[in-house]
Amino acid sequence: LNYNVGRERRYILEVLFNGLRRLEYRGYDSSGIAIDADLNGGAAGDAARAYTSAPPLVFRQAGKIESLVGSVYSDVDAMDLNLEKSFIVHAGIAHTRWATHGVPSSRNSHPQSSGSGDEFLVVHNGIITNYEVLKETLIRHGFTFESDTDTEVIPKLAKFVFDQAREGDQTVTFSQVVIEVMRQLEGAYALIFKSPHYPNELIACKRGSTLILGVKVFFGYFMIDKQDRKFLVPKRIVKLASGFYLTKSLTNEKNYSTSFRDVKSLTTDGQPKELFFSSDLFAIVEHTKNYLAIEDDEVVHLKDGSVSILKFDYGKEKPASVQRALSVLEMEVEQIKKGNYDHFMQKEIHEQPHSLTTTMRGRLRDNSVVLGGLKDHLKTIRHSRRIIFIGCGTSYNAALAARPFLEELSGIPVSMELASDLLDRQGPIYREDTAVFVSQSGETADTLLALEYSLANGALCVGITNTVGSTLARKTHCGVHINAGCEIGVASTKAYTSQIVVITMMALAIGADKLSTQSRREDIINNLPTLPDKVSDVLKLDVQMKDLARSLMQMQSLLVFGRGYNYATALEGALKVKEVALMHSEGMLAGEMKHGPLALVDETLPIIVIATRDACFSKQQSVIQQLHARKGRLIVMCSVGDAASVCAGGSCRIIEVPQVADCLQPVINIIPLQLLAYHLTVSRGYDVDQPRNLAKSVTTQ
Ligand code: G6P
Repeated sequence: LNYNVGRERRYILEVLFNGLRRLEYRGYDSSGIAIDADLNGGAAGDAARAYTSAPPLVFRQAGKIESLVGSVYSDVDAMDLNLEKSFIVHAGIAHTRWATHGVPSSRNSHPQSSGSGDEFLVVHNGIITNYEVLKETLIRHGFTFESDTDTEVIPKLAKFVFDQAREGDQTVTFSQVVIEVMRQLEGAYALIFKSPHYPNELIACKRGSTLILGVKVFFGYFMIDKQDRKFLVPKRIVKLASGFYLTKSLTNEKNYSTSFRDVKSLTTDGQPKELFFSSDLFAIVEHTKNYLAIEDDEVVHLKDGSVSILKFDYGKEKPASVQRALSVLEMEVEQIKKGNYDHFMQKEIHEQPHSLTTTMRGRLRDNSVVLGGLKDHLKTIRHSRRIIFIGCGTSYNAALAARPFLEELSGIPVSMELASDLLDRQGPIYREDTAVFVSQSGETADTLLALEYSLANGALCVGITNTVGSTLARKTHCGVHINAGCEIGVASTKAYTSQIVVITMMALAIGADKLSTQSRREDIINNLPTLPDKVSDVLKLDVQMKDLARSLMQMQSLLVFGRGYNYATALEGALKVKEVALMHSEGMLAGEMKHGPLALVDETLPIIVIATRDACFSKQQSVIQQLHARKGRLIVMCSVGDAASVCAGGSCRIIEVPQVADCLQPVINIIPLQLLAYHLTVSRGYDVDQPRNLAKSVTTQ
């Protein structure tokens, strides 16, 4: 979202479209955009005030972002809108959707509207849980609803509040309208409001769902040395607007000189700027590194280029104004680009030697592990009655992979909870428990609700996440960042292996006080730095996995059997195939095979058996024999050199992987399965990075 000075319509559209493209991994079934209609012929001097209260232009479209882009440009042509026309101040909003209420369609896309004239437009992430009650009330007041969304009640409620105030002959500010709306809403939301009654203004507010404000400033008081055209930037604390200040110099002279071309065409009156609201940082990183994570119940008001922040409180009539400092983002725009790869998933699979190196960087020292975020809590963890891992999807699987090692080193019972199941059961959590929350995004609604539940029950809450500043990172007592770098492919790959390594390091830190396991710990600590090279080796199986994918591409189903350290590998490998290649696939505990799944075995159903060397190796050998006896179609993953022995007694395809320490083997073993899922998806002609019906962060329950 763009709040701008002196830019033409084309630029405004492109900023919004690019923002949507960056967020598309969050949801991609439909999208929409609202931009201001036109200038009212105002002269450049007073153009900031030049809007009429004409309804904004609103476009909505089912399908991916590019179909919205295409339809907007063709409509713009048909409407004979001048794309070169410049705006001094412009406020536009856009949204990409992952359907919760109502099928993906243009009618259900956002911005949702208050009705004819688009007096209030709203984009929304989250779920309004009391929308049915609100809808009934609004219908009684004469409103008619056009969509099946929960969101539509919000702009209609805003119009209701606005009309009521006007009937009572009161003037009402935009923030008063929004705060009145917030009073009525239950559920989780990040909202942005736009209204022709308040030209040049936007309001964003949130509860639960994430919302970021990005600030790009072209300084008002710069100096130009006409001789060498050097551009000097004041390096001191800068006050941006009321209630808002920067704690750091925005940029250095070198960077800033590149912005010179932008700056000189702009007015130097005040501080020309672009302001962005976004549901995550990916959409703003190419514009600015200065951002603010908006907090629950804050109402951020942009008006004529200034920013003010209010804190909403149910109990108080008047919200208080708050001061917030900007943070500086440590992310490079290259991280969110595909580079030479065809897909983000492919890039992220191949990045694992590097991401694992970053995960371990600075944390392994002289036979010990140092995890800064945990060190003050290790004593409490060691005394806990139980350690409970809580997560969803791939993050849950990562914890499951590292669980045996944590049990071994800590001697504490370690239990596993899928966040939604813990909540459904309201399972017991005690003060003496350590609850470890694992989440790549740090924003998964189920995991965050389980966190709230565990905090309320008094457990020590530890976060393991890839996202600095995420809700999980902010709300847990302590934790570890996995530092895997941005992950954009919806199917998690590099975050999985980094999560396993972080939990393994956590086990080493927790167990560090036990003499009995010292040599085991030292062995793993010495092995960890060699892991990235072994991962590079296993990535060489790419061509072989592509070939295997081709041979399996017509299959209806795939089973994966694992046990011990690699039970999680079976679940995660099958999950990858299911979610991206859209092939039915089940990961199974090999020990359970004879209790049911064996009935499925025939000559056609492909079965992957993970049989790398560890304490379970001989048990897996007998599983292979039992499958051979039923003429199963076997693909065996084994340690290098074991091919002949594992396949004795029948025919099978082999995936040979380098052998590492048993507890690190899941990091190696998952990689051929990630590659298999990737190539299966490509050969079956499906979308790798945006699989059907899924989203990267599921921020609704
Ligand atoms: C979604 C994603 C999965 C992910 C899961 C947990 O379902 O599609 O890839 O594993 O959420 O996400 P988190 O960000 O909490 O790790």
